[in-house]
Amino acid sequence: MKITAAILSITTFVGAAKCSLALDRALLDQATNGATQHNWWEFGLGDPIADEVALFYLGHTYFQGADIGEVLETIYRTNHTDPRSWHDEFTKTAERLEAVGKEFEDEGHDLTAGQSFLRAATYRRASLHRHPDPFHEEVPIVTQQAVDNFEKFLALTSYPCKAVQIPYEDTTLPGYLCINRNAANPAPLIIYNQGKDGWMEDGKNVVDEAMQRGYHVLLYDGPGMGRTIRLQGLPFRHDWEKVVSAVIDFAIDQPQVDGDNLALISLSLGGFLAPRAACFEHRLKALVPNPGVVSWHRVYESELQLLASAFGFGPEIFELLEDDPAAFDEEVLKMMSTSDFLHWGFVDSMWHHGVDSPSTLMNELKKFDIVDLMGNITTATLVVDADAETRAQAWELYEGLTGAVKKDYLKFSADEAAQFHDQPGAMGIQSARIFNWLDEILETRAVLEDESTVSKLAASAAPRGICSIGGAVVLVTLVLSWTL
Ligand SMILES: *[C@@H]1O[C@H](CO)[C@@H](O)[C@H](O)[C@H]1NC(C)=O
Ligand SMILES: *[C@@H]1O[C@H](CO)[C@@H](O)[C@H](O)[C@H]1NC(C)=O
Repeated sequence: MKITAAILSITTFVGAAKCSLALDRALLDQATNGATQHNWWEFGLGDPIADEVALFYLGHTYFQGADIGEVLETIYRTNHTDPRSWHDEFTKTAERLEAVGKEFEDEGHDLTAGQSFLRAATYRRASLHRHPDPFHEEVPIVTQQAVDNFEKFLALTSYPCKAVQIPYEDTTLPGYLCINRNAANPAPLIIYNQGKDGWMEDGKNVVDEAMQRGYHVLLYDGPGMGRTIRLQGLPFRHDWEKVVSAVIDFAIDQPQVDGDNLALISLSLGGFLAPRAACFEHRLKALVPNPGVVSWHRVYESELQLLASAFGFGPEIFELLEDDPAAFDEEVLKMMSTSDFLHWGFVDSMWHHGVDSPSTLMNELKKFDIVDLMGNITTATLVVDADAETRAQAWELYEGLTGAVKKDYLKFSADEAAQFHDQPGAMGIQSARIFNWLDEILETRAVLEDESTVSKLAASAAPRGICSIGGAVVLVTLVLSWTL
């Protein structure tokens, strides 16, 4: 019982919030032995990551990255006592969508083909979310399939992102540069920075939102993330300014981008990485850590403490880590051997951080701390928190931002069904509140580049009523108003 409780709360190691969704009565009854009390986020899948990831992918329906029945039916098929089952079932769904996409493409229906490949890409990524062995030879193959599906979506639709390679040290980082066709250039750019489990493609919601405003977007997978860890083998690093500065160098080289109006949005572990970068990198105009983290190490420490106590350890587990790392590793390996979930959680974290033992993981994570540095952040910052957040120190970051030109604190609430880590399933209110803030910080230009941009802008932004009179009138109106 005690161990189960601890396992249920060891969500850090899987980078996920304790949430799930109760939509299917039979599933629920099976998991709760017929008990009727349940929360709206509980599927009762018997495993916290499955529940949480379900809500995360259901949230992708907000931006056409998934569909409700496809996600629920896939998870319904999953056998949660079989560690490969999650991967296998999402693979089947991805293959089905790929086949449908090819069929539509052959028939000449490019748009619907592209939409199908977009969902297939999501299900390929979902299949890897919980792969039992990150070193398995199929992982890079499935990664490439996820990438290919997303790029088929781009190629078959007019979605405004194109693949780019961002120069980084002696290699490159993959990215998508999404140029807003309606923007007055040079325009603000939003840089999207995922966390441990997310991929840059999960940022499509940010692109959708930005395209309805005047912004461009740069999605990228830094070291440790998405395809960068799986295809290039680059793990996370604590000195994230090395990454963000390379990304900014690339961004400001793009002629459409206004280098004085750069925003960095970051999620999960990114809620540590982005502020860390901003301690050294001062070219950003806006920073959104979601959630705000000053020490990612502390997050792991408290989860380890919980886990250890379920196995009869007190705080001496940390003494063991200090005094005898080999003995510490042995104890953790014993804990890992009691559950597929714990085994996966530790292996996954070690792999993302490029280390090969629990003790080296804990020591590596000590570097993920900006308590003594955060006063150096000058960027306007929106620190995000949430009612049920367990992996952040958002208020501490907010208070520590003594040098920021502006700072705000935003707490997502249970009242708005947005209480979990990164607001899975609450994309609507999440984007609304974050973009409302960005819209007040970022400045769009009053100078337009060329006539075609002018007419498009006019069509989307001119005062109602004028558009129907005709493009010429709109142009004249706009030109007059600039002159004044
Ligand atoms: C679920 O997986 C377990 C472990 O692999 C297996 O023993 C069991 O038969 C599976 N259940 C079903 C319904 O396939
Ligand atoms: C942070 O600010 C202090 C005080 O201005 C300065 O001495 C230090 O070099 C800064 N550190 C960084 C990393 O910029």
